Amino acid sequence: MNQLALPDRLEPVRTAPIQDARKRLLHDLRISVIDRCNFRCPYCMPEDEYAHDHVFLPKDQRLRFEEITRLARAFVALGVRKLRLTGGEPLLRRDLHELVRQLAQIPGVDDLALTTNGVLLPRLAHALREAGLKRLTISLDSLDPDTFRQLSGGRGEVADVLDGMAAAEAAGFTSIKLNCVVLRGVNDHQVTDLAGRFRGTSHVVRFIEYMDVGTVNRWNAANVVPNAELLARIRACWPLRALEPNYRGEVAQRYAYADGAGEIGFISSVSQPFCGDCSRARLSADGKLYTCLFARTGFDLRGPLRDGADDAELIRLIGGRWGQRADRYSELRAELRATGNPEKVEMFSIGG
Ligand code: GTP
Ligand code: 5AD
Ligand code: SF4
Ligand code: SF4
Repeated sequence: MNQLALPDRLEPVRTAPIQDARKRLLHDLRISVIDRCNFRCPYCMPEDEYAHDHVFLPKDQRLRFEEITRLARAFVALGVRKLRLTGGEPLLRRDLHELVRQLAQIPGVDDLALTTNGVLLPRLAHALREAGLKRLTISLDSLDPDTFRQLSGGRGEVADVLDGMAAAEAAGFTSIKLNCVVLRGVNDHQVTDLAGRFRGTSHVVRFIEYMDVGTVNRWNAANVVPNAELLARIRACWPLRALEPNYRGEVAQRYAYADGAGEIGFISSVSQPFCGDCSRARLSADGKLYTCLFARTGFDLRGPLRDGADDAELIRLIGGRWGQRADRYSELRAELRATGNPEKVEMFSIGG
């Protein structure tokens, strides 16, 4: 069977964009290419907490690039227009630019982005750009070396991330998004430093509320800083003007500096959930489809794929699963947590 299905083989089965049970379209696919990471951020993969006997996926259980591309084509046939590569740390996957090259060639893909911690960019940025990667998001929780070390679990140096960013700029990534997860008492007093550092550039800092993803990150509502608080603090330094979303369902609320010095964003999934417009599907490195960041289980696509399912069958399986989707964890958080922390997939298994 041809692993790389030709695009026109998908055309005939393409119908109307698919809707879930809450009438939400399928628009974004986030593809995790590896469940490993070279950091141990306490809000994601805390060193002491995620089990030391934790077994990462062996290579044969990870989707091969051709398999990812075939599935991505099926998602595109159902309405997906935006692809984002995630991990763990996606740049740990060898030859990732080859996957980028394959995905960039899929007709119908308007946007191809990647979320990374940035430390491997000096070696890889150029090849990724050349292969067709359009946009980069880099995690950057602090500019202070000690705080940064703490928030990477002692594995990262902020100087290396800034070097990665410089390499990305040199490779042609002109507007980079910088994601900062804010934890009360850890880095919340530094948000104006981070905003100020990139004010006046084309890069966009985004502050993210600490979420209760997975079960190992010891989430506690008391450590969440509502973004309204940060907005007020930043506004007191530099007047801001609210901007319209770039697209329906955008997770970040955007603001422009009133003096024209660029843009910042706030991702407030705890204080202001945005499930109503959630059009994101997630594919894990072992080929499971997750219809919510907080899902407990995924729907296996690797099995059917390796058993020889044709494109029409893959589209039918994915469409059927999306059609049943009713997830809205962030809107139901309080109810669902009333009796404890429900079992959920870990962020490093399905990406940010
Ligand atoms: P753009 O394409 O640049 O708009 O990016 P994005 O905002 O989709 O991307 P990014 O991967 O940078 O998302 C930023 C962060 O928002 C993630 O790391 C998560 O913390 C959070 N996030 C993204 N999607 C979801 C979602 O569907 N649900 C929840 N609860 N949080 C999300
Ligand atoms: N809360 C919010 N965002 C998180 N991320 C990982 N864990 C969490 C969490 N608990 C996001 C961050 C990081 C990306 C890879 O995943 O945005 O930059
Ligand atoms: Fe790694 Fe990103 Fe998780 Fe940090 S948040 S441990 S960099 S996958
Ligand atoms: Fe989408 Fe689930 Fe996040 Fe809600 S909690 S926005 S449904 S991924």
